[in-house]
This record gives sequence, C-alpha cells and structure tokens, in this order.
Amino acid sequence: MRKPLIAGNWKMFKTVDEAINLTKSIKAGVYKVSDCDVVICPPFTALAAAAEVLKGGNIGLGAQNMFPETEGAYTGEISPIMIKELSCRYVILGHSERRQYFSETSTFINQKVKLALKYNLIPILCIGETLEERESNRHFEVVKEQFDESLADISAEEVVRGVIAYEPVWAIGTGKTASPEQAEQMHSYVRRLLNEKFGQEAAERVNILYGGSVKADNALSLMRKANVDGALVGGASLKAEAFAQIVQAAVDACSAEANK
Ligand code: 13P
Repeated sequence: MRKPLIAGNWKMFKTVDEAINLTKSIKAGVYKVSDCDVVICPPFTALAAAAEVLKGGNIGLGAQNMFPETEGAYTGEISPIMIKELSCRYVILGHSERRQYFSETSTFINQKVKLALKYNLIPILCIGETLEERESNRHFEVVKEQFDESLADISAEEVVRGVIAYEPVWAIGTGKTASPEQAEQMHSYVRRLLNEKFGQEAAERVNILYGGSVKADNALSLMRKANVDGALVGGASLKAEAFAQIVQAAVDACSAEANK
C-alpha cells in the first residue's frame, strides 16, 4: 500500500516572517503524524527560514520550480543544487501556472524532471487538462500527451522516485473540485499509463496526488478513492488548521483502506 503524501503549494504567498509563523503552526499541527508524508513548498525566498523551523521534524521541504541546468547565465533562475542546499527534498515541476503564464512545455518540463532525479530530488510532476479540453472531451488525450512528453526517456527505476499530481486546471483556485469519481477515473487512467510505460511493479509504487480546490471538507472523500494517494493543496495549505485537517483525512482514508 502506498503511503499518502500531502504537499502544500504556497505559490507566491508569504513573506519570510509570515512563512516562519505558518511553518511553526503547521509543524505544531502535524507533529504526531507518521502515516502520511507531509511536505510544504514555500516561495524560494522563504525556503531557508522554513528549513530552519522544520529541522528535526517530520515535514519535508520542497521548491515550487527549478531550472534544468546546474548553473549558468540564466538570469532569475534557480538550480537543483541551490534548492538542495536549502534542504529541499521535493520540487514541484510543470505546474499549470508555469505552463500557462511562463509558456513551459512538457519537453522543457521533461528536462527538469531528469535533472531533479539526477540530483536526488523528488519531482512532483503536475499534469491536467483545461476546462475547454474537458468540455471537448479531450482530457484523457491531453493528460496522456503531457504524461508521455514529461516522462520521456525516464526509466522505471527513476519514475518510482517521483510523484505525479493530477491537477485539472478548471479546479485550481476556483472552488470547483473534481468529484471523487472524476478524480478516480483520471487517476486510474494515469496508473494504467504508468503500467504500460514502466510495468506493473513501478506503476503500483508511484503516488498520484490530486490537486484543485482540496479543502478540509472534501479531502476525505477524494482520498478514499483507490488511486488517489494524497493531495497537492494550494489555498488551504496557507491555513495551518485546514492543512492539518487535510493531513488527518489522508491518515483516516489510509487506515480505512487498511481495515478493509
Ligand atoms: P488550490 O488548492 O488553491 O485550488 O490550488 C491547487 C494547486 O494549484 C496546487 O498546486
């Protein structure tokens, strides 16, 4: 059985001082949790301060992006070595906001995934369709294309070190969550794609997170689904209490599964 993972994507929120306070509150809220991996992804500017607060605790740290080179003349960019130096173990790659506002393509994201793996970072690879793509019934095709291109030339040994997040763009920041059935349908499809490309053993090991308006009150019903292995949380990860409740929902969903 896969251990669930709840990751908080803070996006472009929180100054250093605010990040320290939020990290302390989250740490206090989940300090007893061991049956669920918990990760926070503050903005780059707050990573060092958050790492200091997280020292010796059970919460992992992640960055929200990185550039696919170790160093060079890339003004404004951050390399995998730099985020590792700040104690990051995870990195979110290919978020739809990066694809939309910064024109990131799956081919470019593939370079990032490869370099992240090379530097032993855990990539949280985001894929997901827009509303228009879903309404024109192209959501499976779009997700398959993003999957294939973002994971090109990756081996089964490598893919199991990463995490996939299905984030339908129409559910991000809109308050419109995918229903548990819609999420499960796409997650089981992604699991099938993993199986076809990397084999069953690898496919069974990869965590597939759901992201898009996950809140304390809808988290349990989503995570009760067999192929929903956790969540990538935006807005609700900025409130320590809500975030801790989502973590608890993941633990509850997992123990309900174990008792089946
Ligand atoms: P919201 O939870 O705010 O919808 O954001 C989801 C997301 O984009 C996480 O990466």
